[in-house]
Amino acid sequence: MSEQLANSKKVFLKTYGCQMNVYDSSRMQDALEQDGYVATSAIEDADLVLLNTCHIREKAAEKVYSDIGRIRQIKEARAEAGKSMTIGVTGCVAQAEGAEIIARAPAVNLVAGPQTYHHLPDLVRRAREGERVVETEFEIEEKFEQLPAATSTQHRARGVAAFLTVQEGCDKFCTFCVVPYTRGAEVSRSVEQIMDEARGMVAGGVREITLLGQNVNAWHGTGADGREWGLGELLFELSSIPELERLRYTTSHPVDMDEGLIDAHRKLQCLMPYLHLPVQSGSNKILKAMNRHHTIAEYLAIIERVREARPGIAISGDFIVGFPGETDKDFEETLALVREVNYASAFSFKYSQRPGTPGADMEAQVLESVKNERLQRLQALLNEQQESFNKTCVGKTVDILLEKQGKRQGQLIGRSPWLQSVIVDDTLGAPGEVVRVKITTAAPNSLTAVAA
Ligand code: SAH
Ligand code: SF4
Ligand code: F3S
Repeated sequence: MSEQLANSKKVFLKTYGCQMNVYDSSRMQDALEQDGYVATSAIEDADLVLLNTCHIREKAAEKVYSDIGRIRQIKEARAEAGKSMTIGVTGCVAQAEGAEIIARAPAVNLVAGPQTYHHLPDLVRRAREGERVVETEFEIEEKFEQLPAATSTQHRARGVAAFLTVQEGCDKFCTFCVVPYTRGAEVSRSVEQIMDEARGMVAGGVREITLLGQNVNAWHGTGADGREWGLGELLFELSSIPELERLRYTTSHPVDMDEGLIDAHRKLQCLMPYLHLPVQSGSNKILKAMNRHHTIAEYLAIIERVREARPGIAISGDFIVGFPGETDKDFEETLALVREVNYASAFSFKYSQRPGTPGADMEAQVLESVKNERLQRLQALLNEQQESFNKTCVGKTVDILLEKQGKRQGQLIGRSPWLQSVIVDDTLGAPGEVVRVKITTAAPNSLTAVAA
C-alpha cells in the first residue's frame, strides 16, 4: 500500500431507499474520494460513516435509528483505541428531521439534506473539527453542477450499468408521499449536463444508463435544436452516443406519459422494452383521495398505447394497500386492475402514515390487520404474474448485457431487455458485452440461458 493510501481517511457509506439515493451516494463518494477519502466496506475501519437515508415509510426511517445505535458502539470502541469516528446522516430522513436526529441520537455529528451534497467535503471537515453540523437548506444553485464529475476510474469501479439522475424533486403532492417535502420542487438538469455526464460514463465503460427522477417523465429542457424537449427527445439524443448500448428510465407518473416518450419506445431499439408506471390503486375514489390526477380508464389507455408502440413491453408498477378510506370494494378494484394489466413485476406496500402529509390526518385509517391481509392477497397475485411472465421467456432468443460475476464460480449475471437477471456460463463473454442467448429455465426472480 502506498504511503498516501495508508494515511488516507476511510469512509463507509450505507444507502437506503430508492435508486436516486444510490446515485447520490455514488456522487458523494466520488466527491469525498477526490477530497482524500478511500471507501471501505469495513465499518470498524471508518473515520467517517455516512448513512444516506429514506423517509418514504415509517419502517425505512426507523431502521436508521437502530443502525445508529449499533454504529455508536463501534464508535465507542474506536474511541477507546484512540481513533475517532464521525457519523453523518444524509438523505430524506436528514431533510425531514434535521436537528431532531442529533437530539435523539447524540452520536450523530452531521445532518445534511439531499440538496446540500455539493458542500459535503466542507460540512464533513467542520463536523470532524467538533461542530454539530445541520444543513437542510434548499438552495437555488444546483448541486449536480457543483459536484465534481466522476473520473473514468470511478465509473469503471461501478460497473457497466449505471444510474444518471436527470430530474429531481416533485411538485405533485400525492397525499401519502413525503418526497415533495424531502427533495423539494421539481428540477430538470440541462441537456448539456446530462449529455456530458453520459459521455463520461460511456468513456468509463458504462454500457447501460438508467435515467432517474422522482418523476422522470416530467423532465423537460431546451434541446440542441432550441426547442423545448421532453424525455422522449432526450432519449433520442442519448441514443446517438456510440457504445451506449441500452437506455432505461424510472420512475414515471401516468400524467406525464406523453406522445414523445411513447414514440421513443416505438422507434428506439436501444430503449429497453420495460416501463415502470406506478398506479397505486385500482379505485378511482382512492386515486382521487391520493391526488393522483388521473382515472383508471386513463391509466389503462396509456398502457394500451405503450403496448401498441412496443409490443411485448414489460409493465411494472407500485401499489399501496390500505390508504385511508379504502374499502373491500376499492381493494377488489385494485385486484381487478392487476388482472387486466398483467404485470411483469411490481412493488406493493402497506400504507404508512407519514408526518406532515395530508393522508396522515385523514379519517377512516385502515386497520393494520386489514392492510396485512390485503397486501398478502395482492402480492400473491403479483408474484403469480411475475412467475408466469418469466415462464413465457423460456425458449426465447434474446440479447443480454453481461454485468458481473455470478454467485457461483464460472457464472456471469446478465440483464434481459425486460430487466430480469439472467445467469449464464462465463465462457459466453465479459461484463460490458451484449450477447445473444436462449433462455432455458425460469425461476421467480431469475432466468438461466445458454449461447444462442
Ligand atoms: N414518484 C413515484 C413514486 C416514488 S415513491 C410515483 O409517483 O409513482 C415509491 C413508492 O413508494 C410509491 O410508488 C408508493 O407506492 C410507495 N409509497 C410512497 N409513500 C408511501 C407511504 N406513505 N406508504 C406506503 N407506500 C408509499
Ligand atoms: Fe411522491 Fe406522488 Fe411525487 Fe411520486 S408523484 S414522488 S408518489 S408525490
Ligand atoms: Fe426514500 Fe427519499 Fe427516495 S424518501 S424513496 S430516499 S426520494
